[in-house]
Amino acid sequence: MVNRLKEDLIESGQYGRDPQRRVERYDQLDPERGVIRPTGTEANKKVRDYAVKRMKEVGLKIKVDEVGNIFARKEGSRTGRGVVMCGSHLDSVINGGQFDGAFGVFGAIEAVRRMADEGFDNERPIEVVVFTSEEGSAFGLTLLGSSALIGKLSIDDALNRKNPAGQTLAEALEQIGYKGDFERGLDDVENFVEMHIEQGPVLYDERIPIGIVENIVGIAWVFATIKGEGNHAGTTPMKVRKDALVAAADIVSFVKRRANEIDDALGAGTVGTVGKLTVFPNGTNIVPARVELGIDIRDVVPKNMEDLKNETAEAIRNLENKYGVEVEINIPTTHLPAPLAPEVVNVIEQSAGQVRIQAKRMNSGAGHDAQNMAERVKTGMIFVPSVKGISHAPMEWTEWDDIENGVMVLTQTIKNLSRL
Ligand code: GLV
Ligand code: MN
Ligand code: MN
Repeated sequence: MVNRLKEDLIESGQYGRDPQRRVERYDQLDPERGVIRPTGTEANKKVRDYAVKRMKEVGLKIKVDEVGNIFARKEGSRTGRGVVMCGSHLDSVINGGQFDGAFGVFGAIEAVRRMADEGFDNERPIEVVVFTSEEGSAFGLTLLGSSALIGKLSIDDALNRKNPAGQTLAEALEQIGYKGDFERGLDDVENFVEMHIEQGPVLYDERIPIGIVENIVGIAWVFATIKGEGNHAGTTPMKVRKDALVAAADIVSFVKRRANEIDDALGAGTVGTVGKLTVFPNGTNIVPARVELGIDIRDVVPKNMEDLKNETAEAIRNLENKYGVEVEINIPTTHLPAPLAPEVVNVIEQSAGQVRIQAKRMNSGAGHDAQNMAERVKTGMIFVPSVKGISHAPMEWTEWDDIENGVMVLTQTIKNLSRL
């Protein structure tokens, strides 16, 4: 194990912990307090600054685009060859772990360091990329930076999105010093490789060190506001109430029931989650006046995802008649399921064989910037096991030996791609 990658993950993993502290082992995790570093926060600035420092140390040239994506470039030895891009994100969910995203960024930096140590001659340029706001925990849209990069979200729309404090992405990026002006198209990019923790139980349960992703699920988010009538919990008779939370409860059960039914009927791993429920005014003796819901729907089959999304929106609209409430629905850009490039899948498989690490092909139930990149360039993903399959939670962990396995496969993959 080369300790500098471990050190990078532990150091960067401090940012967004309260209190800020280094976590080196599983038994040091706090089940109540994980990593919190949505885009634009002080912790997000610190982790970006730390990564940029490491990138500069290994001689990479840094550019930042208009939505805060960071590109760190090592030139290739032959001119006119397409770039091999590699990276992930540094923002986090609320109360996540230190590996989600960060492993793909610091692993890519480590791969460049290993190539430099060996004096490896990469023919193609290599760029380490950090995508802005992959998690959507501040600006209400997952995969934001890569959506802007591939052009499915306009730069203006991205920059005008607001966080819960009412600050635009443009203002947030200015504040942390990552509002750049680099205009990075993708015409000169040949490949994108993202290494990531699996965030599910497959590799951990089967004790297989490496996953090679063939498909990434699509993600649809549905936001809804249900407006009822706030009133006294003691004096308002049951029959005249317009209880926004009672109406919302229908949607919680609807999403669970329909996701199960679709999955049972079609077996494509459909999932539906009401992950966000905010009740106003949230007082024990007050009939809930307003509820905001955030709903996450995923499938590897586009039609299943679209069907469940549309049925959910319909069920929400029906609440108006059933409960006398008013509803508003907002559906941000949907991310389609993405098959990854067979050519890159093969190179990763061959690379794992070269470094003698067992690997299996699998799908990803988590969303990744790779699914956007796959729409424009030949893309692959490398997974390593997540302890007990846990992620997006403070107990997320990956063993250091698995971190090393991942970076060995990634380094070999980048080397092979850089000479293809
Ligand atoms: C992104 O991490 C997602 O899968 O929600
Ligand atoms: Mn995540
Ligand atoms: Mn991630």
